[in-house]
Amino acid sequence: QFPLPIPPVKTPAMTITNPVTGNPIDYYEVHINQFTQQVYPGKGPATLVGYDGMSPGPTFLIERGRESVVRFVNNATMDNSVHLHGSYSRAPWDGWAEDVTKAGEFKDYFYPNSQAARFLWYHDHAIDHTAENAYFGQAGGYIIHDPAEDSLGLPSGYGQFDIPLILSAKQYKSDGSLFSPATETDSLYGDVIHVNGQPWPYFNVQPRKYRFRFLNAAISRTFQLYFQRQTGSSARIPFQVIASDAGLLSAPATTSDLYVSMAERYEVVFDFSPFAGQNITLRNAQDVGADDDYLHTNKVMRFVVSSTPVSDPSTVPSALATIKWPAPAGPNPDHHFEFGRTNGQWRINGVGFSDVNNRVLANVPRGSVELWELENGGGGWSHPIHIHLVDFRVVYRSDDEDRPVYNYESQGLKDVVWLAPGETVRVEAHYAPWDGVYMFHCHNLIHEDHEMMAAFNVTKLLD
Ligand code: C2O
Ligand code: CU
Repeated sequence: QFPLPIPPVKTPAMTITNPVTGNPIDYYEVHINQFTQQVYPGKGPATLVGYDGMSPGPTFLIERGRESVVRFVNNATMDNSVHLHGSYSRAPWDGWAEDVTKAGEFKDYFYPNSQAARFLWYHDHAIDHTAENAYFGQAGGYIIHDPAEDSLGLPSGYGQFDIPLILSAKQYKSDGSLFSPATETDSLYGDVIHVNGQPWPYFNVQPRKYRFRFLNAAISRTFQLYFQRQTGSSARIPFQVIASDAGLLSAPATTSDLYVSMAERYEVVFDFSPFAGQNITLRNAQDVGADDDYLHTNKVMRFVVSSTPVSDPSTVPSALATIKWPAPAGPNPDHHFEFGRTNGQWRINGVGFSDVNNRVLANVPRGSVELWELENGGGGWSHPIHIHLVDFRVVYRSDDEDRPVYNYESQGLKDVVWLAPGETVRVEAHYAPWDGVYMFHCHNLIHEDHEMMAAFNVTKLLD
């Protein structure tokens, strides 16, 4: 058993001045490097490619309103493109799939960081190779803080009581190297569950509250997480969900099961104080959505709770945030998108990303609120759908036996919504603040690479 790694904090190389506004901009430099690491216990090393030569990459800790420029230098052999998932980046810095940086080149990305506190992540988005690049290591966390959230008294301190838990699932060859998803066309579920790059780690905790920031960075696997004692009662232990993709929920939601599909983020507060001296395991339910399961995919990690009592000044207030919900759209969907297969190919309304003349599926006037209906086209697959640029509210979800409607999804704004097999959802968003052409796609990255991606054009308002 190995301890949970905590990705190090990324520090700026220097501070520069925004030539237009005069505001400071923190300048960072990230090198995309190949490296080898002993990952699978008892076997040989795996070859990975990651930001600053690690996987996950370093975590950015950003104060709201502090702009950043990040230079991503490609020292690897594959083309890449970097998307800051959850940021309303202007289109040229949004990681457009065809805007790749070649080996030996770099690109500077500008991020406004003016959204409310949230857990974002940066990952590769290169045309046709996103799944491979993310799987081999190109993914990392990016946290925006703000004074409103800081004043709530939630468990805090990055790496201390505020812990990122970046989940992934991969498959290894018998020599310990990684099996590549490059030739897969459907999914690669993976039989080895990693947290922050380490298979099945443990984490020593004090008997007090912790904030855990879950990110599902797996390319194809959806998790249904629950906590239970390692010995004794097998009851699922309730905890509080406090935030999702776009930051704090309006109020904490109590649950004992947490569904996290690909690219979704959910933040929870778990209180270990009743469990001093015990072990708590974090587990994954099997048979979730369309996933294939293996012997050990029901395990995620273990928490070893110290028996020494501590005082815990943290709290979870009963009101967390005032959410800026989009003004209600009309009752009828402005657009309907079906995510399915056409002639054996993953498509959105029959269109794939390589249909360059048809792939802009919506023109949306900037500043408008639209209701989009997203339908799973069937076949028993899961499709977590990500819309770039915007935060949306999930306003309708069709009932599905595969998964009960859950109480935390509609309490905050999101940027990914899971379409379990057979489901239809409706999402409402304010298409702002910028105009530009942005992507939307399935975040099963193998589906994305195989064409289940299209674009929408937020158009300028006429004067
Ligand atoms: Cu997380 Cu278009 O990506
Ligand atoms: Cu999909």
